[in-house]
Amino acid sequence: MAHVSDLIESDIEQYLRQHEHKSLLRFITCGSVDDGKSTLIGRLLYESKMIFEDQLAAVEADSRKWGTQGGEIDFALLVDGLAAEREQGITIDVAYRFFSTDRRKFIVADTPGHEQYTRNMVTGASSADVAVILVDGRKGVLTQTRRHSYIASVLGIRHVVLAVNKMDLVEYSEKRFRTIVDDYTNFSAKLAFESVTPIPVSALKGDNIIEPSTAMPWYRSGTLLAYLETVETNDSELGSEPFCLPVQWVNRPNLDFRGFAGSVASGSVAPGDRIRVLPSGRETQVERIVTMGGDLDRAIRGQSITLTLADEVDVSRGDVIVAAQASLEVADQFEATVVWMHDEPMLPGRRYLVKIGSRMVPASFTEIKYQVNVNTMERLAAKKLDLNAISVCNLGLEQAIAFKPYAESRDLGSFIVIDRMTNATVGAGMLHFALRRAHNIHIQHVDVDKAARAAAKNQKACVLWFTGLSGAGKSTISNLVEKKLHAMGKHTYLLDGDNVRHGLNKDLGFTDVDRVENIRRVAEVARLMVDAGLIVLTAFISPFRAERRMARSLLNEGEFIEIHVDTPLAVAESRDPKGLYRKARRGELVNFTGIDSPYEAPESPELRLDGTEESVEVLADRVVELLRERGALSG
Ligand code: ADX
Repeated sequence: MAHVSDLIESDIEQYLRQHEHKSLLRFITCGSVDDGKSTLIGRLLYESKMIFEDQLAAVEADSRKWGTQGGEIDFALLVDGLAAEREQGITIDVAYRFFSTDRRKFIVADTPGHEQYTRNMVTGASSADVAVILVDGRKGVLTQTRRHSYIASVLGIRHVVLAVNKMDLVEYSEKRFRTIVDDYTNFSAKLAFESVTPIPVSALKGDNIIEPSTAMPWYRSGTLLAYLETVETNDSELGSEPFCLPVQWVNRPNLDFRGFAGSVASGSVAPGDRIRVLPSGRETQVERIVTMGGDLDRAIRGQSITLTLADEVDVSRGDVIVAAQASLEVADQFEATVVWMHDEPMLPGRRYLVKIGSRMVPASFTEIKYQVNVNTMERLAAKKLDLNAISVCNLGLEQAIAFKPYAESRDLGSFIVIDRMTNATVGAGMLHFALRRAHNIHIQHVDVDKAARAAAKNQKACVLWFTGLSGAGKSTISNLVEKKLHAMGKHTYLLDGDNVRHGLNKDLGFTDVDRVENIRRVAEVARLMVDAGLIVLTAFISPFRAERRMARSLLNEGEFIEIHVDTPLAVAESRDPKGLYRKARRGELVNFTGIDSPYEAPESPELRLDGTEESVEVLADRVVELLRERGALSG
């Protein structure tokens, strides 16, 4: 059996040395609720004697109190540490456990079976070598089994154990086992696993976990532990990744020192190493590795350092310094697999933050190519991604990054998606490849620029972005503002929701997805018009903060003037100029802003107009006055 070696008594030094040099296997267990994962892990821990005695005593006591095994030790209690889990009888977070045998050390990530906890599975699987997929012998392959297998496969796990559990409850039937194995291998043939190893087990009774089962003489291919002790690991690949340091800041305390600070994302570096700066591609040599505690001879992954370089090359914050021979690519457009992990759906065109390695860049998904139905592997069309959706998307970053496809590097090829407002992690993904298209479209330099065009019109270009509920008064006020500006000889253009929706955006409706796209297009058009030197007025409900912020980000500081036409819902509804509120209340119009679709009021607009108190004339004058104060009315 495991771990407790004679060496402990005879030669403890030797024992410790052996222990130190044992290889490490990381694996995950996944299965549906009640498949017996906790019992399985509990048994592995128990039998490898990595549980302390007091913990054992507690488990024995607990088993009598809570256990489901009639006074015998309930191994699941070892693992289900949280009180809440005990009460509900389910596991709800990723738990990492460590155990070891004479041959190997193990870290097991125990991931829960509930569908809404797919995100935990992604967390647990991203560093694993092997996935142990549990199936209840009575139930066979379920949706969860397929989902977990699919995620394991896209996360790059190469080896799978199909542990058909609870064999004791199906009379240790070989036929039942074969049926489940056939069912699973039919499905898994479409995935990218190198090996699938089926093992019939009973975690509860201990069959084929550590000791071969006497109840299943028809199975002779080894126990689960024997498999885990011998399967090849990715250990050896770890040190072989190329050096990569995303530059977090440029440290220039005086003219004599210029250092590039960041933490080593992969590989290692030493003075004298040839390096390349991306995206510029300039090559030079490392001079010194400076740290708070003095210079280093070598720095490895995870260390925070400042590099100085032999030549005066241009390096700025956000660049990546890599080993000269590293085959890293630089790109800003990708195809990627995305697992969505948040209740709030992913909307194409919405801006998120994407974190790749230690770089954080604004990004949006430009297209959902398809969503995957994990049961059938069918590709489905999708306009948005809901919680737990797995899909293949095109991802557009606002800055180019150095990367590797996920298949080559888990570190430089994986990313998480962060919500810009709440900072919550809302998705995770894996880069497939760069879309070449982006490389071939260059920004064309033009000589007559925005300032020149605006000056010729004796004004400064900007956008007056009116936002507010339907019926708030956006169109009326912006219309009057435009009239006043026109009378002053200014060059303007008014983009109005109702009008744009008859032309450019006539393909869009009022779902969240369509509203995001509506505003994205309007923001791009407004930007072009600002570039043409115009004072642009936009009158759209533009209900979401994220998209208004996106519109702002397309323009230079000071060019985006957000005007909240702040008319309470009750007032807008009583005006109801188009009779739409009445329709919405009768249920004849769905997704109506303020009724069954949200409006997120601006937090700090440049101007807030109270749509109830003053006349349209006064409100329009306030807008013109603001423009005058900001110097937009002279060239
Ligand atoms: S936005 O939300 O995408 O910014 P936009 O300003 O273009 O909306 O269009 C709003 C106008 O479309 C409203 O003033 C109203 O006349 C009309 N409309 C029709 N259906 C809806 C709806 N479901 N929600 C809001 N406005 C609607």
